[in-house]
Amino acid sequence: MRAFVTRDLPGRGIDRLRNQPGIDLDLWQRDFPPPRNTVLEHVVGADGLLCLITDTIDAELLDHAGPKLKVVSQMAVGVDNIDVAACAARGISVGNTPGVLTETTADLAFALLLASARRVVEAANYVRLGQWRTWSPTMLAGTEVNGATLGIVGFGAIGQAVAHRATGFGLRTLYWSRRQKPVVAARLQADYRDLPDLLAQSDFVSVHAALTAETRHLIDAAALAHMPAHAILINTARGPLVDEEALTDALRNGRIAAAGLDVTETEPIAPDSPLLSMPNVIVLPHIGSASLATRTKMADLAVDNLLAGLAGQTLPHQVPLPTETNA
Ligand code: DGY
Repeated sequence: MRAFVTRDLPGRGIDRLRNQPGIDLDLWQRDFPPPRNTVLEHVVGADGLLCLITDTIDAELLDHAGPKLKVVSQMAVGVDNIDVAACAARGISVGNTPGVLTETTADLAFALLLASARRVVEAANYVRLGQWRTWSPTMLAGTEVNGATLGIVGFGAIGQAVAHRATGFGLRTLYWSRRQKPVVAARLQADYRDLPDLLAQSDFVSVHAALTAETRHLIDAAALAHMPAHAILINTARGPLVDEEALTDALRNGRIAAAGLDVTETEPIAPDSPLLSMPNVIVLPHIGSASLATRTKMADLAVDNLLAGLAGQTLPHQVPLPTETNA
């Protein structure tokens, strides 16, 4: 059986695949993703595919792969780069890596919240550029976190882990999700609001929804218009949840105060993006789950899913069809 793995992985996953009897490993070992044509060539006749968020797994690719393909195992929890319905229609199982990156990603969301509020990147650059001449009462004064209100958009595992952190920082938490979650919300002292109210009442808004056709541009110009001018937007979920042009406009015109983004509509962000020249914007290169320990666990889960799929077993972490998901 042939398995195409679109990038080298941390940990022992690749060795496990190499040492697995009956598996012919086809590994793309470069630092950059394989170009589309290369992926199309390598998937022909493959039984399994282990991919990353940088690969687009659509009907064209699945047709290219042909009828032997049994499993698409993604090393990520988000699967918006995969046409899950097209996989299901062809009897192909899709796996992902939930759970292991929840706390790591929540940490980064909180790091961005604190860094944006207290202007940490701006202050570090200020020192680095030799601009620190004295202490002054208002120098680099930022936004108070303790006592502020945090609005969490999307109350799945990561949104809840952010709410958990918020209790320790003296924040009041509001949440919005497609379904109300009263039990977990009570435990995390979070109150439900509909989206416009949450946006209007929050000093910080942190986005944690899954990207679907319905949530694309969930935070658009109209949503941003609900936010107060001192509000700060954090996004560690998926770039297209936020209409970046509308966000740029809102930041440029002072309609919101700042943004901390680990994800952008196009990744990597264009070097000439106006967001990169705004001192009140922090852009990171999609590192939410990037601790070595977590990335290793993600790789291990992705290999577990791949091996199970190749063996014709139910995947340990099988992605449900889009209609079965709960945001
Ligand atoms: C995910 O898992 O979906 C992240 O965005 C990549 O770690």
